[in-house]
Amino acid sequence: MPTEDIDRRWWKEAVVYQIYPRSFNDADGDGIGDIPGIVERLDYLDALGVDVVWLCPVYDSPNADNGYDISDYRAIMDEFGTMADWETLLDGLHDRDIKLVMDLVVNHTSDEHEWFVKSRAGEDEYDDYYWWREGRDADAVDWSATEGPEGEAPPNAWKSFFGGPAWAYDDEREAWYLHLFDRKQPDLNWENPDVREEVFEMMEWWFEKGIDGFRMDVINLISKPEGLPNDPDDPFGGAMSQSTNGPRVHEYLSEMNERVLDREYLTVGEMLGPKMPMDHARRYLDPDEDGLSMLFHFEHMLLDRGEDLWKRRDWDLSELKAVFNRWDEGLKEDGWNSLYLNNHDQPRMVSRFGNDGAYRRESAKLLATLLHTLRGTPYIYQGEELGMTNYPFDSLDEFRDVDTLNPLREAVSEGEVESFEAVKEAVRANSRDNARTPMQWSAEEHAGFTDGEPWIGVNPNHDEINVEAERADPESVWHYYRDLISLRDEYDVVVYGDYEPLFPDDGTVWAYTRTLATDAGTERLVVALNFSSSEVAVGLPDEVASDDATLLLGNYDAASEVDAAGDTDPDLDVDTVADELAAGDLRLRPWEARVYHDST
Ligand code: NOJ
Repeated sequence: MPTEDIDRRWWKEAVVYQIYPRSFNDADGDGIGDIPGIVERLDYLDALGVDVVWLCPVYDSPNADNGYDISDYRAIMDEFGTMADWETLLDGLHDRDIKLVMDLVVNHTSDEHEWFVKSRAGEDEYDDYYWWREGRDADAVDWSATEGPEGEAPPNAWKSFFGGPAWAYDDEREAWYLHLFDRKQPDLNWENPDVREEVFEMMEWWFEKGIDGFRMDVINLISKPEGLPNDPDDPFGGAMSQSTNGPRVHEYLSEMNERVLDREYLTVGEMLGPKMPMDHARRYLDPDEDGLSMLFHFEHMLLDRGEDLWKRRDWDLSELKAVFNRWDEGLKEDGWNSLYLNNHDQPRMVSRFGNDGAYRRESAKLLATLLHTLRGTPYIYQGEELGMTNYPFDSLDEFRDVDTLNPLREAVSEGEVESFEAVKEAVRANSRDNARTPMQWSAEEHAGFTDGEPWIGVNPNHDEINVEAERADPESVWHYYRDLISLRDEYDVVVYGDYEPLFPDDGTVWAYTRTLATDAGTERLVVALNFSSSEVAVGLPDEVASDDATLLLGNYDAASEVDAAGDTDPDLDVDTVADELAAGDLRLRPWEARVYHDST
């Protein structure tokens, strides 16, 4: 491709770092992370080399869902600091050439938001801001709730994603309101043009304050279909199948695009649902339609999940590859992928997709290699760069998350699950709280996160896995992340190269090439990743073998010559690694990752 035809965008070349403020760093000793705490760590982010911070919600909120229940979109939550603190953060990031992406949570508000307070009081102007409906005759339908007037059932059979019915009865308005999430998170009615106007004005207000984009919470749920139909095939009774990619979603988002978005902003839409149809994905990303830069789908996040929090499913590497391959293929012409393996809603990636025991360090680096050498924009979730692991949850009172506690308590009370003990393994593997334990800064008490009592337990492995130790060790996961991040600045092929998977059905090795042909010649990466704790041999096709390639990066110190059994292996040195590619015959050690580069 002629070099000038590359559709260059800063957000394609960037690496995003996600901060969950409650768990990042506590400056005032109340046990809860805060904005001044983030400011204290700006040099840390700078040293890591990230280009963008995505900040999870810091707005005023009663915290039914840790800030995803917003009571005032233009104010900062007291626990997190003040607007002046936020401005200091923005300036501090910009001074270091780091951009700031805020979270936009507009499928729902808090029930303590002024709009809801007025709506439930029946004030004319706000009457239709939310989904208010009359109940149904309980005898006429086969669904029910434990609240509401005698003999009345909720308006339909939809279930909340956080457990229980998706409807709550409001005594003041004497009607039911829809909440796809917690009852304290009523869904906004986007059919009302005033609601859309309020949202757009609020977004403009933040853009004027200087932010660089938005991550849009569950944005594909904002349009609900006429009549709110039930769906017996949906585990949520229709709440999921009927609300995802609803009939007017592209109309609303293209209106948003026209009114407030700009190609210079980074916008990433979170897209709920088991499988996003690619034609929808393209419309979300089409600059002439919805105009988002990227989206977060969930397909790879559902591979190991059963239908409920307490259920697991066996998965195979070929399924994981198939998800990424489908998305690269689907968006390669018109679109751009986001690349993530964990975030504040997901378990830690090294515990989930790697080996958090004997090969924690190797597998954390391997997963990072994958995320940073596929085509798309990598997202790092705080602590991932240290190889942080899941938490060894042992009792129910260690959890804080509404989406862990509510469904579990309900299942126990309905007899579907005997007790927490009976499902402990699955719940501790699946819970969102794994991601929410505090960032591990040092081996000190509470991992240096707070001088007070942390709001959620600190992982006991912080004595080993922490920022101080990682930064002091040149072979650490942290230093490897820095190297990976800097690759994007040096090699266009890392950002813009075409992706060609090799052996898509192989359940152990993920290998691929990235190729960029420009006026200056052809640059290529060959990436080989061993997703297992045993050594594997990989025979590469002739056209992939190369005499001229050098090893750009690998997660084993080639010079240290350690073999699969952990013994010294004099055959494995830099030359051997290059020779192996020349012969097309790789011998990958457990969880070994290699990135070769050549140019012709
Ligand atoms: C997705 C967010 O990432 C999650 O944390 C939240 O609970 C739900 N949306 C509801 O806002």
